Amino acid sequence: MSSKQFFNEVAGEWDAMRANFYSEQVREKAFDRAGVRAGQLAADLGAGTGFVTEGLLRRGLRVVAIDQSEAMLAEMKTKFAAVSGRLDCRKGEAAELPLADQAVEHVFANMYLHHVDDPARAVAEMTRVLKPGGRLTITDVFEHPFEFLKTEHHDRWLGFRREALEEWLRAAGLSEVCVDDLGEECRVRSAAGGETALMNIFVASGRK
Ligand SMILES: C[S@@+](CC[C@H](N)C(=O)[O-])C[C@H]1O[C@@H](n2cnc3c(N)ncnc32)[C@H](O)[C@@H]1O
Repeated sequence: MSSKQFFNEVAGEWDAMRANFYSEQVREKAFDRAGVRAGQLAADLGAGTGFVTEGLLRRGLRVVAIDQSEAMLAEMKTKFAAVSGRLDCRKGEAAELPLADQAVEHVFANMYLHHVDDPARAVAEMTRVLKPGGRLTITDVFEHPFEFLKTEHHDRWLGFRREALEEWLRAAGLSEVCVDDLGEECRVRSAAGGETALMNIFVASGRK
């Protein structure tokens, strides 16, 4: 099964699954780090059913939500039908985002980078769509040893090292590059056995 098939299958359950994995503080801390303001335009990449999108809409931003999974996007469209004037849902792939150059003031990507084939290329693509002065804010997990996440959750990478993240953001042309521990955890229990993965979440940010 591909990652796309996996997310199409779990779309209806994703909100409940996500609530067990990490808290809403993840997105709130990311927004504070990015300095979001009402009226700005943000992209939510690997948007899923709209965890980050929901928070951005609440803070008064306009959002382009992008995901490879039609089923995840369908869930999101139903959930946010009332604010559809500020939300644009697009099907798209990490390596070739369906956005013009310099289109948005913010890019957010929560728990997305560890699913993409080529993280360095994905970061360069995120940077392409940012306006000059725009901010990239990635939240994901630091490197960890929990192999079961590859088979049970279709993770492509077992998290990331700080040095690799800094290198990818700098290589993409971002300044003010900073990778910090967000002070939040991601907790996933294996369906196969008793193992529980407990992972520290980072926030990686930079300015174009
Ligand atoms: C772990 S979920 C996170 C969803 C959401 N950001 C959240 O925090 O709830 C990862 C999402 O990234 C999407 N995704 C994975 N690989 C992708 C790719 N190469 N291009 C676009 N979307 C991708 C999946 O379909 C899924 O919805």
